[in-house]
Amino acid sequence: MKKTLVILGILVSFFTFLCLPSGCYWDNEEDLYGPDTNTNCDTTNMRFSVEIRAIMAEHCDKCHISTAATYSGIPYETHAQFKAVALNGKLLDRINNQAAPMPETGLMSLCNRLKIEAWVNAGSPDN
Ligand code: HEC
Repeated sequence: MKKTLVILGILVSFFTFLCLPSGCYWDNEEDLYGPDTNTNCDTTNMRFSVEIRAIMAEHCDKCHISTAATYSGIPYETHAQFKAVALNGKLLDRINNQAAPMPETGLMSLCNRLKIEAWVNAGSPDN
């Protein structure tokens, strides 16, 4: 009887130990960067007028276009305005900055961020 209890005790602690970590937060890529990864992200030939503008329209315009109701006071309406913030480093900093993310609600998907990064690294062209 005593032996059974001991074995039962060992089993219970073993399974508790096994199950505990699933309740914790793990710093995995999916939690941090969203469900997609860079494996199927096409970052070749990023054009300001097409791919970059599309990301901005979805994630930035409501706060960075002066006519928007929730305008922040910081305009990214022209290529020159966006290039300036690309060149001074703030663009790549803020889109990857977990403590002060842009958009404010949280980091975009890794693929969107890699696309902007590719465009910045190509010299932020007006293409
Ligand atoms: C919900 C509103 C909102 C959205 C959406 C948003 N921003 Fe902002 N953004 C702000 C506000 C407000 C500030 C100024 C305060 C600050 O720096 O946090 C700001 C500041 C910034 C700055 C820093 C500017 C500087 O000179 O210090 C950058 C860069 C930026 N935003 C880029 C973006 C990009 C890129 C997107 C889209 C991917 C975006 N933001 C989406 C509200 C927003």
